[in-house]
Amino acid sequence: MSLEAEVRRLKDERSAVLLAHNYQRGEVQDVADYVGDSLYLSRKAAETDRPVICFAGVRFMAETAKILNPTRTVLLPDLKAGCGLADSITAEQLRAWKSEHPGAVVVAYINTSAEVKAESDYCCTSSNATKVVSSIAEDKEILFLPDVFLGEYVRKKTGRSMHLWVGDCPVHAKMRPEDLQRARREHPGAEIVAHPECGCTSAALPHVDRILSTDGMVRFAEETRQKEVLVATEVGILHRMRRLNPTTTFTPLSEGTICPYMKEIDLADIRDSLAQNRYVIEVPEATARRARVAIDRMIAA
Ligand code: 13P
Ligand code: SF4
Repeated sequence: MSLEAEVRRLKDERSAVLLAHNYQRGEVQDVADYVGDSLYLSRKAAETDRPVICFAGVRFMAETAKILNPTRTVLLPDLKAGCGLADSITAEQLRAWKSEHPGAVVVAYINTSAEVKAESDYCCTSSNATKVVSSIAEDKEILFLPDVFLGEYVRKKTGRSMHLWVGDCPVHAKMRPEDLQRARREHPGAEIVAHPECGCTSAALPHVDRILSTDGMVRFAEETRQKEVLVATEVGILHRMRRLNPTTTFTPLSEGTICPYMKEIDLADIRDSLAQNRYVIEVPEATARRARVAIDRMIAA
């Protein structure tokens, strides 16, 4: 039996739902029940009635699923699937930052640990960060964390003077304004779409046609009639974009934009995860209760 067939069989046997992020390997996306960005997958995790959620993504996503649906068993097939951006701030660092700004509202990107979310007032993802920040009363001081590039982008879009934590995604931060300028020269006529975590977006905003979350890019791929689109984000997303629109050429800004964490999980890990019930993600109840408030605000936005 093929690995893919084994995964499908085990998924049925365990009544599991398999969620996969847009950056996952193509073969993992193909066997998943739902593929999408962080916000979409959080919503799917919250609403599922299946007893097991197997998360092909990274740890903070599996933790968010557990917090949203605590009675389900949440599995992360490989514990090495972390996130360099989430690691850029700890709960202790956030507490110290908050103590310097008493009364400030804390907005945490979903790419954070459950402990950091528990210290936050709002969560957001790349697809609703602007909306979440705009919903906060004008007179409130805002601490935005941990991605400085997303923070700068949201600051420009909303006109809010937020304090920014200087963290970044090691994968997206490598993309610089010079890369965009070069791409513009080498691919005249191509449209450029970029994820707001990119190190190039804030300084090179005029060179980017659209700043989009990963699902925003997928929707754009479905609709565009462009001959060529340059894609500034993790290359895993090209699998869906090319499949949805075979007539447009989707070119990565850089072939080397690969998230090692997102590539930890393969089909064999998913098979073993479902067969051996590993690795079960738990979040301490007190942490989950506090983090849930911020996550619910994100889901509602
Ligand atoms: P999205 O929410 O756009 O899927 O992004 C998640 C992520 O980890 C980007 O690096
Ligand atoms: Fe984290 Fe960056 Fe990988 Fe996204 S691409 S999971 S932010 S390390």
